[in-house]
Amino acid sequence: MNSPRPVLVVGASGFVGSRVARGLAAGGRPVLAAARRPLPEWFIAQPGVIPVLSTEVTALPGAVRAACAQAGAPLPGAVVASIGGWHKGAPLLDVDASEWSATLASHLTAHLEAARALVPLLEPGDPYIVLNGAASREAMAGSGAISVTGAGLAMLVQVLRLESRQARPPEAGPPVRFHELVIDHAVSGDDRNEDPAQTRTPAQVVSALGELLDHPGAPVVVHV
Ligand SMILES: NC(=O)c1ccc[n+]([C@@H]2O[C@H](COP(=O)([O-])OP(=O)(O)OC[C@H]3O[C@@H](n4cnc5c(N)ncnc54)[C@H](OP(=O)(O)O)[C@@H]3O)[C@@H](O)[C@H]2O)c1
Repeated sequence: MNSPRPVLVVGASGFVGSRVARGLAAGGRPVLAAARRPLPEWFIAQPGVIPVLSTEVTALPGAVRAACAQAGAPLPGAVVASIGGWHKGAPLLDVDASEWSATLASHLTAHLEAARALVPLLEPGDPYIVLNGAASREAMAGSGAISVTGAGLAMLVQVLRLESRQARPPEAGPPVRFHELVIDHAVSGDDRNEDPAQTRTPAQVVSALGELLDHPGAPVVVHV
């Protein structure tokens, strides 16, 4: 029997990405855990986890191919992009230009670069899932740059989906399916969220991802 194609988790060093990668692997899905810095030994020792180290998103395809070849695994059959994050800081008018540019780069441009680099690795109909947060839907004082980039990220996914469906000859098969998974509350255990009104467990996020990964007819935007 052929080995299943792994799920590529980008941002596997992050709070959510690390839990998603480990949770998917614990559920029996092989996972390519991609990060810009080496992941801890205990993480990559988990069965089903294949580490991918790449300091630049644009260099990820080569790193993914090399990691798959070394592990004897097929190329990924799905991408989960868990890039960015949340923090509270100064009001938007006081955010300095370098901080604004850094948030644009990490929370929005990195997603476009990841999609550009990784969609060509996928096959027709494979899922590409972008994680987003509550700030994308709700203006949050002190997190203005993250609210703006989160809203932009939601639109980015919509445009990618629209363009993937256009000018596609029937013989090319179905396009890559772009989904947005919006985590509407703090993920439990993340101490950066002070006194959250509600939380979601990493297991709930992993379960929602499983639904998107397994069901081609899943909604394009899902909230958890
Ligand atoms: N944590 C929560 O409670 C929570 C709640 C709701 C939604 N979410 C959503 O979950 C997603 C991930 O958030 P998180 O809390 O896990 O954030 P995080 O802990 O700050 O992790 C962010 C990840 O993105 C990576 N990253 C940042 N800039 C990058 C770039 N330019 N190129 C490549 N990778 C880059 C980081 O890599 P490095 O480690 O190398 O910096 C890290 O792996 C976001 O969409 C967020 O909105 C999180």
